[in-house]
Amino acid sequence: MLRRSTSRILILGAFYALYLVIGASVFCAIEGPDENKRKQELKDIRKTFLEGHTSCITDGELEAFIEKIVEAQNRGVSAIKNVTSESNWSFGQSLFFAGTILTTIGYGHVTPLSEGGKVFCVVYALIGIPLTLILFTAIVERLMLLTNAILSLLEKKLSHILTYLQVRLLHLAIIFTFLLVFIFITPAVIFTCIEKRWNFLDSFYYCFISMTTIGLGDYIPGDDVNQQNRALYKILTTVYLFIGLTIMMLTLATIYEIPELNIGSHFYLKSDAEHETEKQTLRKPTNNYNAAETEQSTFGGAKDNEALTE
Ligand SMILES: *[C@@H]1O[C@H](CO)[C@@H](O)[C@H](O)[C@H]1NC(C)=O
Repeated sequence: MLRRSTSRILILGAFYALYLVIGASVFCAIEGPDENKRKQELKDIRKTFLEGHTSCITDGELEAFIEKIVEAQNRGVSAIKNVTSESNWSFGQSLFFAGTILTTIGYGHVTPLSEGGKVFCVVYALIGIPLTLILFTAIVERLMLLTNAILSLLEKKLSHILTYLQVRLLHLAIIFTFLLVFIFITPAVIFTCIEKRWNFLDSFYYCFISMTTIGLGDYIPGDDVNQQNRALYKILTTVYLFIGLTIMMLTLATIYEIPELNIGSHFYLKSDAEHETEKQTLRKPTNNYNAAETEQSTFGGAKDNEALTE
């Protein structure tokens, strides 16, 4: 006889595998044609270039030249503008790099090239990443005092027309709107203004890829060859990343505080224990969230017990 959570996790695992395969199929279908179009464009440019220089350059020489340039580009060294682009390791750029290491965003557009740099990167991240998590969690804990004050206020004003769950969902909606406006839309508008090659979708996509710490690195602010005040821009972007990720964590913490939205609890081992006690005591379903609430301690501390006991 399987545990309840075990049979559920088997279903979840099967669904997850399917989800992964669906994702792969969709990317495959959408991206293939676009890639082919780019390849054709590149082939045409190469052909036209060679035809214009048949007397002085051979196909092999051009191939070797392109290879060198692409290799350098992949390591973050640009051949554009007669290789006069600014260093990747000015202070602003380096701060941005350190920020993407500590937040685990890891764009990968610039990477340490020296042995020493790689070793330092490992040691730096080993200490820095846990430190970042501790710092973020501690800040989120304090911000939760503020958001929970808002929750208590909403509860006080609206408890006669809304249920407890509805008040909590409204509260979540307010925080989510704040996140959307100040961490996604406003920065996206600013990036669209500053970055000449980005449209709004590109900027929003950059914010999303960064805030989820996926960090694909296809769009990086301040890497335009003609960028003014690059160092300042990079530093401000780093500040944005840190603030944005804090607000992301705050939103996640708010979601975790609503047991009804905590889908994961159906799959964890402790859900079996809860099921057992439920069967034994035949508690009403409305009591469930008090039990779950006390176990929600991902971000510990800042719980609004006053609101609960009301
Ligand atoms: C590129 O740089 C080299 C020396 O670094 C110089 O001799 C050459 O004139 C430059 N070319 C252009 C187009 O600026």
